[in-house]
Order: sequence, then C-alpha cells, then structure tokens
Amino acid sequence: MGKKIFSGVQPTGNLHLGNYLGAIKNFVDLNNDLDNECVFCVVDLHAITVNQDPKELRNNIRETVATFIASGIDPEKSIIFNQSKVSAHSEAAWILSCVARMGWLNRMTQFKEKAGNDKEKASVGLYSYPVLMAADILLYETTHVPVGDDQKQHLELCRDIAQKFNNDFKFEDFFKVPEPLIQKEFSRIMSLKDGSKKMSKSESSDLSRINLTDDKDQIINKIKKAKTDTLPLPETVAELEKRPEAKNLIGIYSSLANKNLEKSIKEFSGKNFSEFKEKLSQALVEKIIPISTEIKKLLNEKEYLDTILLKGCEKADKIASKKVNKIHEIVGF
Ligand code: AMP
Ligand code: TRP
Repeated sequence: MGKKIFSGVQPTGNLHLGNYLGAIKNFVDLNNDLDNECVFCVVDLHAITVNQDPKELRNNIRETVATFIASGIDPEKSIIFNQSKVSAHSEAAWILSCVARMGWLNRMTQFKEKAGNDKEKASVGLYSYPVLMAADILLYETTHVPVGDDQKQHLELCRDIAQKFNNDFKFEDFFKVPEPLIQKEFSRIMSLKDGSKKMSKSESSDLSRINLTDDKDQIINKIKKAKTDTLPLPETVAELEKRPEAKNLIGIYSSLANKNLEKSIKEFSGKNFSEFKEKLSQALVEKIIPISTEIKKLLNEKEYLDTILLKGCEKADKIASKKVNKIHEIVGF
C-alpha cells in the first residue's frame, strides 16, 4: 500500500550534504514511488524561531524549493509549498499546544542545544517549535515522516500529541499516529572539521560542510582539508568506532555509492587517506554538481519557483483546511 509522506525543511540557507543524505535523498525515492502521496513543506514559520533577515528569508524560501526540484522531486507528483501560506498550520499548532504538556516539551534536547546557555532569551517559538511540527504532520493524515536522526525526538512528541488528542476527545484514529522514516546508516552526517559535531547550516566555518550549491573546486578543496587521523584506513567496521572523522568520511562515501560500510571498508582498507579522499571527491562531484548547477539555473527563474509554491499552497490548503475544520468541531468551537 502507498504511504502518505510529509516532511519539512527550514529555509535558513546553506542547505548541505547532511540535509541531502539525511533527508532530501529519501524524499526523492519516496516521490518516485507511484503509490505514495508526498507533501514537502518549506517550513518558514519554523525558520523565524530565530532571527531572520526578511530579504534573505524570501530568497532562502525560493532556494529551498529550487533544491527540492534540482534533487529530483517532481512538483507535478508531490505537493511543494510554504507553511506560512497555509493558515491551518498556525491554527492547529495553537490548539495542539493546549494538548501538549510542558513536561513533554521540557525534555526536547534540540531546544536545549539551540537555546544554549541563555534560555531566558530564547523565543517562545523556539520552545514550542515541535508542536508546530506536530501540526504540520497531523494535518495531512501522514503515515510516514522521512527525517534525519536529529528529528527523532520531535516525532515521538508528535505521536504523543496525536494519541492524547484522540484520547482526550474520545475520537479514536482521528489523528493518524505517524511513523518516522530514518535511514539506519548515515542518518547523521558530521562536520568535516569535527567528527563529533553534526554538519550544520549554522556552523561558522564553511569548510565544515559541503553546500548543495558548492562548485567542483570548493568540493575538492573541502575534502582535501577535511579532518582525518594519521592511521591508514581500517580493515573492519569496529575499528571505525574510535575514529569519528574516518567513520564520517567513509559513511558519506557509502551513502553516495549506496553501499554499506563494510563494502566501502573492503574497498579502501589499508590505503591512505589521500587516495580515499580522491575517490570521495569524485563521488561527491558526480552527485552534487548536477544538483548545484540546476539550483543555480532555477534561482534565475523566480516566477517558475513562485508558481510552484502557489500551486502547492492551493493543494495543501484544501487538505489542511478540511482537517482543521474538523478539529474545530471536535474541540467545540
Ligand atoms: P533543517 O535544515 O534543520 O530543516 O533539516 C532538514 C532535514 O535535514 C531534517 O530532516 C534533518 O533531520 C536533516 N538533517 C539536517 N542536518 C543533518 C545532518 N547533519 N545529517 C543528517 N541529516 C540532517
Ligand atoms: N523541524 C524540522 C527540522 O528542523 C523541520 C520540520 C518542520 C519538519 N515540520 C516538519 C520535518 C514536519 C518533518 C515533518 O529539520
């Protein structure tokens, strides 16, 4: 049976290899299965939980759409839209914030990481962000949510909120309880400069990530400069455990080549990093350059991108407003 897919990406610029291998690549495979119905959302309401420059935000919304399409998502087959233009998301988020419990949100590790040492200064939106994410998912009868490993806890919260709403209002199965789709291997791509930190849009050093808009020379240079250790490449997967940078680079290679770690290790065991890095750069250039070229081309076609969003918003609004009307009825409005 086909799946109902929903996922979101924040339009906060610098979409990178982690976004691609952890999430977007999976979106494309799900889009390509004719049985699935997919909704991919540019979550601009989530983006403003931290300060955004309005002009940059507008560009980043278009760039995220361009990235979806350049990666292979077909806007005729899947719905692509931006969250702020479908008001049901904000409405449902408010209602669900009255279902979610403080104790549940207090456990969210991403808030703790993002708010850092000064929680008093974090926006209220950053705290309640996972409730909005639950609203996104639950409005579309979603069965499966493809995300990177860092979103697992938010999905568990979404499941709790769905179940509590169904119980509180004695309406079994009103909200479908969605399943996460998280890749077993390589669901967390790490920084090229520090194998213990996740590759991230907000890391100050651009050398820490491969951006989906990087050109060939940038990719080659970044891999050349990527942190490694002094040992040759290992013979077994177990040996990688104490070598986070080596594990990350071999993981990236494996994910690009659709191989498991063991196979890649066999290919390179005993060789030195310079030889491996050359192969890795080659694989990256092969995968990323066509995407990066297409993103740049699409960014010059603003009207085309805006039309895709407009059409996507219309389709999304039809589904989401129907669901939110039912929520109103159930709640007693
Ligand atoms: P975001 O840019 O935070 O909206 O993330 C978009 C998607 O990319 C989410 O599904 C994340 O889980 C995924 N993602 C972000 N960073 C990484 C990473 N370093 N490794 C794997 N997946 C990631
Ligand atoms: N919180 C997700 C992230 O930062 C983005 C997101 C918002 C999302 N709404 C969603 C992901 C719904 C999946 C489903 O990556």
